[in-house]
Amino acid sequence: MSNEAILKIDGKEYTLPTMVGSEGEKAVDVRKLRTETGHICFDQGYGNTGSCESAITYLDGDNGILRHRGYPIEQLAAHSEFLETAYLIIYGELPNAKQRKTFSQLLRKNASIETQMQKIFEGFPKDAPPMAMLSSIVSSLAVHYSNLATNNFEKDLQNFDLAAAMAISKIRTIGAMIYRYQHGLPYVHPKDVPFCDNFLHMMFSEPYQEYVAVPEVSRALNLLLLLHADHEQNCSTSTVRMVGSSAANLFTSLSAGIAALSGPLHGGANAAVMHMLQSIHDEGDDGTRFIAAAKSGGKGNRLMGFGHAVYRNFDPRAKIIGDACEKVLAKLGIDDPLLAIAKNLEQAALKDDYFLSRKLYPNVDFYSGIIMRALGIPVNMFTVIFAIGRTPGWIANWREVAANPKGRIYRPRQIYVGPVKRDYVAIDQRA
Ligand code: CMC
Repeated sequence: MSNEAILKIDGKEYTLPTMVGSEGEKAVDVRKLRTETGHICFDQGYGNTGSCESAITYLDGDNGILRHRGYPIEQLAAHSEFLETAYLIIYGELPNAKQRKTFSQLLRKNASIETQMQKIFEGFPKDAPPMAMLSSIVSSLAVHYSNLATNNFEKDLQNFDLAAAMAISKIRTIGAMIYRYQHGLPYVHPKDVPFCDNFLHMMFSEPYQEYVAVPEVSRALNLLLLLHADHEQNCSTSTVRMVGSSAANLFTSLSAGIAALSGPLHGGANAAVMHMLQSIHDEGDDGTRFIAAAKSGGKGNRLMGFGHAVYRNFDPRAKIIGDACEKVLAKLGIDDPLLAIAKNLEQAALKDDYFLSRKLYPNVDFYSGIIMRALGIPVNMFTVIFAIGRTPGWIANWREVAANPKGRIYRPRQIYVGPVKRDYVAIDQRA
């Protein structure tokens, strides 16, 4: 098979090299296209652009395949847990018992938020959007730990293990503190318990009544975080890589990733799903009207939790979450009317030609909100939970950028469609 592509422009032929990834993914290498032909590639939203080579996650959207470092998501969901998968994603291999223990200890040692940093919260209104708070406070980690965040790849990589552990552990703690702050409750210090138990403890413990998570709740949260741990070059991960490519430190890059995740078409979709289900419930609709509106087009009417930029068959995470959702609710003895509405919507949409012809299926966010609601997590915190889960993926991607000796700053081009050159007109001569 030829490893070249021939491109003909204005009657002249150019030869471009091709590339093949380890799972057979094919690409035409256009890096020299502009210098050789004067043309750039136009690909709005980068939907067909490979922005990097990455060894972290393999995703085949047509066949519903998701693998981290080669391991299928179904196997990780069934046998691993969040921190083990986080280690795998960041370091490339499943940890042995010693590595797993060291990783866990480093996280536990770096779980708390110093008093000085706590004061940042006081500058925010109590009803400020949690993701905006999270992004700001994570950005301030670069201020408080400036020795780990020098904006020098070499130095920052020397401190990578500590910075990565801090990021995972502290983002979880900050998430819980945002909840406490918004509810006017005193902060709860982390304690020496497993990652998810600690989060639930910091969220829900009361001064004279420590919250002890039932194993089902802790396991469900663990699964949710694991399923969100990485997802190839999505909007927030590409943002982390882009910011990191300027040699910005890990914390600053993570803060940018959190900002990107906050939008309703990305991480904010889990909250949007709940608002949608709740309004269907409040209006006494069975979903029929909502489906009709969604089919009328327009981004404002979309059936939230449906469709995906890359999955065109099914989202493997949605399958796992859908199954887990029913089991968790049954185990906790919760009968949530929103689950019935979600199932009706899913069944109706999966029979509807509009959704079938556009290959729109439930995505990871469709059922995740119902589980979080069952765990007692309020809707405005859903995207924060997504961010806690996605942190290992962002960290692994930042590291790949920082450690790539041949890396260059991300700098796409554009097709300019504005006015052509014109001369400045003094203000008194303007129409
Ligand atoms: N409901 C109704 N119609 C839709 C939906 C939807 N959820 N999603 C896409 N469409 C339509 C869209 O209007 C377009 O129709 P037409 O061809 O007639 O113009 C067609 O399907 C293709 O849509 P698209 O905008 O090209 O799809 P995209 O790949 O650019 O967008 C998406 C992907 C996820 C932004 C979009 O499907 C969407 O807005 N879904 C709802 C929000 C959501 O659940 N987001 C979570 C994504 S998964 C979590 C994550 O990784 O962030």
